[in-house]
Amino acid sequence: MTTLTIRRPDDWHLHLRDGAMLRAVLPETARHFARAIIMPNLVPPVVTGAEAMAYRGRIMAALPDGADFTPLMTLYLTEETDPDDLAAAHASGLVTAVKLYPAGATTNSASGVQDFDRVRPVLEKMAEIGCPLCVHGEVTDPDVDIFDREAVFIDRVLDPIRRATPGLRVVMEHITTSDGVDYVRSADRDLGATITTHHLIINRNHILVGGIRPHYYCLPVAKRETHRLALRKAATGGDPRFFLGTDSAPHVDAAKETGCGCAGCFTATNTMALLAHVFEAENALDRLEGFAALNGPAFYGLPPNETTLTLTKSDTPTTFPAKIETGDGPVTVFDPGFPVYWSTP
Ligand code: DOR
Ligand code: ZN
Repeated sequence: MTTLTIRRPDDWHLHLRDGAMLRAVLPETARHFARAIIMPNLVPPVVTGAEAMAYRGRIMAALPDGADFTPLMTLYLTEETDPDDLAAAHASGLVTAVKLYPAGATTNSASGVQDFDRVRPVLEKMAEIGCPLCVHGEVTDPDVDIFDREAVFIDRVLDPIRRATPGLRVVMEHITTSDGVDYVRSADRDLGATITTHHLIINRNHILVGGIRPHYYCLPVAKRETHRLALRKAATGGDPRFFLGTDSAPHVDAAKETGCGCAGCFTATNTMALLAHVFEAENALDRLEGFAALNGPAFYGLPPNETTLTLTKSDTPTTFPAKIETGDGPVTVFDPGFPVYWSTP
């Protein structure tokens, strides 16, 4: 048996939902992570400071007794977002970041941004107060192929925004391409990226070969193998601009296994064990702590956690639950498709 103890990790991109789903999935994250950036794409979205305060209250109420977990709240950027409301929520410590969804890019993104000029005052305020912008980096133009949407977003939207807003700190969320990796590496400041666990494990073949696998479908969709390899290099290479954001995104099975299935992989249950497997395979176990527990806090200007998480490797494969039960129905846990020998408490 081998063990690896690292500082307690944080998840810099997480979907917790609300109600019965929140109560079922939150313990899966709180068991491993000390903090997480909480995505605001509820229905309706979390747009104002008051809504973030209320949502934070519901998350705290859903925490299991004794859990030591801090939700880092985000606001959903709309064309009506009030810069002063955001500034007040940020100054009070309630809100850590703002999330930009291009309208229609993904689950519950209908209220996202269509006309980027209309959010200029908010972006300028964010640069002034040092509030990071978390970006879902895909264009929604129907003429752009879904596999090209990240690369086109960088050229058409992200780079112009960054040039026009000096000092704005940006996190490219869940990058899926070597274009995303290269763009982050090319920036001299104010740019980081999160990488999910599942994008280190699957490519687009996993979704489509031998039958369609709805539980591997997420957005941005997994790309070809060369991109997955670029992501693995970025995540395990020690560059502090890359850090973990699982994008664990639960949907009940009925919403995934259907004629028009929702996007999202639910990885909260086994993420840390899977990451240990990936980092070991890349001969980079010593860099797991940086990726999962140090680089993110450094980008966000927060101290790393003082508590720790111990991962254990044994001779027999770990059995993860195939599903977790929620009051809304079962949610399938991400299956890496290979045996994993690492486990967490
Ligand atoms: O796969 C995804 N699921 N990607 C997103 O951007 C949203 C998320 C969700 O909320 O289900
Ligand atoms: Zn997400």
